[in-house]
Amino acid sequence: MPTKLLLVAGARPNFMKIAPLIKAIDRHNEAPAAGTSDSRHPASISYSLVHTGQHYDEKMSDVFFRELRIPAPHHNLAVGSGSHAEQTARIMLAFEPVLLSERPDWVVVVGDVNSTAACALVAAKLGIRVAHVEAGLRSFDRSMPEEINRLVTDSIADLLLTPSADADDNLRREGVPESRIRLVGNIMIDSLVENLPRARQSGILRRLGLAAGAYAFVTIHRPANVDQRPVLAAIMQAIETAARAVPVVFALHPRTRKMLATHDLALPTSDRFKIIDPVGYHDSLCLIENARFILTDSGGLQEESTYFRTPCLTLRPNTERPVTISLGSNRLTSHLNLASDIESTLTGNARLGSLPPFWDGKSAERIVAALQPVV
Ligand code: UD1
Repeated sequence: MPTKLLLVAGARPNFMKIAPLIKAIDRHNEAPAAGTSDSRHPASISYSLVHTGQHYDEKMSDVFFRELRIPAPHHNLAVGSGSHAEQTARIMLAFEPVLLSERPDWVVVVGDVNSTAACALVAAKLGIRVAHVEAGLRSFDRSMPEEINRLVTDSIADLLLTPSADADDNLRREGVPESRIRLVGNIMIDSLVENLPRARQSGILRRLGLAAGAYAFVTIHRPANVDQRPVLAAIMQAIETAARAVPVVFALHPRTRKMLATHDLALPTSDRFKIIDPVGYHDSLCLIENARFILTDSGGLQEESTYFRTPCLTLRPNTERPVTISLGSNRLTSHLNLASDIESTLTGNARLGSLPPFWDGKSAERIVAALQPVV
């Protein structure tokens, strides 16, 4: 019997973690069994893909399926937006019947969004094994919804597939037995490496009239940065000031667009401060690779900028991805000292840091191997 996996994706940052996994499963199934010429693999893996529909817009979801060549999901739960309780509850209600009909050997969840914790919880209650990709990351800041999702998911998962050694240490400190922890590396980098040739042909710099190395790329969407008017106003003001020194391109997340309107904050109209819609994966990689620096509160962009050695200012008091600071190109900032941090970044090195271990594009392969022996 093949090993049966149910793969869960729900929100934008999940798609680049699921795509390499599907490719690694396909490669595993195509490889001949060791020592034979038989093309049928004795331990083949079957999978179904569930899209919870937490993100649903063309620019938040569909474009990633196309660019990352992810097959159409077998199940789309279409849960949409809502409060945390509404969204989490809707995912759980819609996921349970899927799980009961599919009866997989493993439910594989990725990252730290509401879909991750909701589906892990349903599976654990039905006695179905849960594997968590990107386990063990901790910001130690429970005011972040993602930290709650990480803690919940890791405490009930059977297999904790970690991106870095600090994640292993966090889990050990929480008393997770060694047998459940597997250091597999950063799966986001698998997608990055695979998609780099296409990202380099994106053409977005030409479309926006930007020169490589001579603009700042901004993405901000965390509730802590956009939900309160004074904070968002201070951030916009600091970016407007920075735009006098270097052109800025700001890809506006739907939450941020909504909050700018709610707080009655005007969008800048200057040619040096361009506001654009959320960008697809290839355009995003191209903008990160070629920026003079990036300003973000995204987890994924801290990692992608570290890969490219592009200086990154992270608008948060903490990060669950400490290797991006200790080895990579990342530095924390806040709305209070943003203007001076931008200034010092512009006078600093254009390329920073080095590549952390296991950022080698082979994490999905290690995950597929980790799911094998325990079946
Ligand atoms: C979610 C994740 C966050 C991740 C981010 C990436 C949680 C708790 N948060 O935050 O970790 O960094 O995704 O984008 O899971 N909206 C649309 N179209 C969409 C999706 C959302 O317009 O396709 C709007 C809705 O108005 C919604 C708001 O964006 O209310 C926020 O969406 P939601 O999924 O609740 O949280 P994010 O801020 O996107």
